[in-house]
Amino acid sequence: MNTPAQQTYPRPLPRTGAVTGVLEALAFFRDPGFAQKRFAQHGNVFATSLLGQPLVFIRGGRAIGDLLAQPDGCEGWWPVSVRELLGSRSLANRNGPDHRARRRVVGQLFSAAALRRYSPGIVALVDELSTELAAASTPVSLVDRLRRFAFSVIATVVLGLEGDDREALFHDFEIWTRALFSVPLALPGTPFARALQARGRLLARLGEVLRRSRERAAAGEPLAGGLDLLSGGLDEAGLPLDDADVVEQLLLLLFAGYETTASSLSCLMTALLQHPELEPWWRPELEALPWPPAPEQAASAYDAAAAPKLSALISEVMRLNPPVGGFFRRTTRELVLDGVVVPTGQVVQVALAASNRYREAGSGSAVEKPPRSEQAAATPEVTPASANTDAKLSDTIPHSPDDLATFRPQRHLAGDTGLTLLPFGGGERVCLGKALAELEIRLMAVGLLGRLQLQLVPKDQDLSLQLIPSPSPRGGLRVVGLGVSAP
Ligand code: HEM
Repeated sequence: MNTPAQQTYPRPLPRTGAVTGVLEALAFFRDPGFAQKRFAQHGNVFATSLLGQPLVFIRGGRAIGDLLAQPDGCEGWWPVSVRELLGSRSLANRNGPDHRARRRVVGQLFSAAALRRYSPGIVALVDELSTELAAASTPVSLVDRLRRFAFSVIATVVLGLEGDDREALFHDFEIWTRALFSVPLALPGTPFARALQARGRLLARLGEVLRRSRERAAAGEPLAGGLDLLSGGLDEAGLPLDDADVVEQLLLLLFAGYETTASSLSCLMTALLQHPELEPWWRPELEALPWPPAPEQAASAYDAAAAPKLSALISEVMRLNPPVGGFFRRTTRELVLDGVVVPTGQVVQVALAASNRYREAGSGSAVEKPPRSEQAAATPEVTPASANTDAKLSDTIPHSPDDLATFRPQRHLAGDTGLTLLPFGGGERVCLGKALAELEIRLMAVGLLGRLQLQLVPKDQDLSLQLIPSPSPRGGLRVVGLGVSAP
């Protein structure tokens, strides 16, 4: 990954000089440009401290590629609050063979066959939401509905929970989530203490669901969800995983799959409503797609080959507002990342959000070339910063250096953007639910937007994004849905 010169002369790790990290932590939570500013000053790899926790921030394809290419030199890491709330058995807190064995078990829930089984349930939830929107006489908060949708997909479609079970789980899960990035002090009455109690109830409920699904499967009764797919799960020593272990993996799925997917859906809808000028570009593609898809084709019916513009829209939303802004590793030996020496025992923050807006020197061209078929369909550029509004006549679309701050989905149709885009991570810990998340997003986009035209009501609501835990429009995205006529 490194150039020969970088390999010969690795540089020492640049440091911001922060010691206690109090001011750095305040800046981190308040300033969305926190990492970007420090990268501009110190380069693609630098060290700082947040509230006493030393951290090495990295961005760009070279540094991230170097890290992911050396899994033997690093391990997973989470802040103490997340670690304790997820639990010691969770695969997120495990490494090596322990981690791989649990990935294999949990991965059974996301196989192609599993997704085929889930797709009618997801389609039904999408239809339910479009029907509600079409019938509503007052504006509906799309953020709330999309959160409910993402939660229902995991809780009902994947885990098989229904009715009261699901409501109680939702309630405890919200208490649990609020404390995830809090100070892990279990003093009575603190959010963390309440979250630990909620965790106990969540595990008990998930344990009960697992037990019931086993009984039904054994009795040959029909089963909601996919928990029977977990049967035969073996640990790293080839022994069956005990229930306490499986249940912690199920809790991880709620954590990893709910907020992230809800965020990407809310950000997609927000971006489309903020850019009505793009609608003539994407709408014909969406409306021409069949709905609902046959279950056996659901995973491919709206993929990049069948729906390239939808794919480009999703990629661009995740580029500008990644649901997971960054993830952590801890070095277990000295590593050289993008030519910089990172010592053993350092916690590394892989800054996805900052990488997505950064084009490395020497990676890709500064002028993107759209395929010829795309040029004819391309709408004018979204911002005045983009000079060429006559894309039909030109082979190339020049863009200014500021272009990476611009919402311009067409860039993804051109192939190589020169960017390192890893919204689902990479390497040994790449997102286990990627295929499910993509399926949910594509089904919602086609099923909802293909049938309805959304309008913001009121028009002047707050569309700015709160970033923690995942980006979401502050005003709740209140909309009405108007039916579109069939083609
Ligand atoms: C748009 C939605 C999603 C995004 C952007 C996303 C992103 C990510 C990222 C960046 C990681 C890597 C973290 C790391 O390397 O430490 C990850 C891991 C993970 N994701 Fe997702 N995720 C999404 C949806 C889901 C869904 C729907 C599920 C399951 C229901 C899921 C389950 C997991 C699990 C279990 C891991 C841990 C993998 C491991 O540590 O080996 N994710 N996700």
